Amino acid sequence: MFAAFAGNNTWFGILLGVHIAGAIIGLGPTFAFGIMAGTAKKTSPERALGILEVTHAVQGKLVEPLVGGVQLVTGVGLIFNRGLQHGFFSHRNGWLIASLVIYATAMGISNGIQGPTMKKALALANDGKAGTPEFGGYIQRLGKFGPVLGILGFALVVLMIWRPGSGCSVPTVC
Ligand code: HEM
Repeated sequence: MFAAFAGNNTWFGILLGVHIAGAIIGLGPTFAFGIMAGTAKKTSPERALGILEVTHAVQGKLVEPLVGGVQLVTGVGLIFNRGLQHGFFSHRNGWLIASLVIYATAMGISNGIQGPTMKKALALANDGKAGTPEFGGYIQRLGKFGPVLGILGFALVVLMIWRPGSGCSVPTVC
């Protein structure tokens, strides 16, 4: 069964199509988070709470399942379909290893810092404590790591399309 999957171009097309769609739909909205946070800062506490809630819902219902689930599953599928697991730690796979380090770092920041901070900020805002210094500290932390995630996401997309050192031309012709 694996023999029929490895190197199969139909599977490659399906996996790559879903992978690229996942990148666009899952990562795309995150680039609007900074603009939404900027708007939240300038508006009333009630409206800011609404914006926080929308951001949290988009993160939990769209970004996390796609970036944390679909991208990982289709990405691993692409690795085995293209046979990249052979000599995984070779120079040819430098782009992939760098991408995976970036991916793991971004997931760590997102799940370990941004997610919990957002939950704490939302809880305070729901208790009517949106004006407190504690709340301000959480918003500041979100604002600090948001651009870092944006840069990591951008670098990931560029690396995965460019694939320097892989011997493949852009896009996807090996
Ligand atoms: C946020 C996460 C991710 C994004 C935004 C992303 C984005 C992309 C994009 C845009 C391509 C298209 C390359 C092309 O032009 O054909 C690609 C290819 C690829 N991705 Fe990802 N990816 C992500 C996560 C992953 C993960 C976690 C893995 C592995 C576990 C992975 C493995 C691959 C592989 C192997 C290819 C190349 C397939 C080939 O053409 O040989 N990706 N990725």
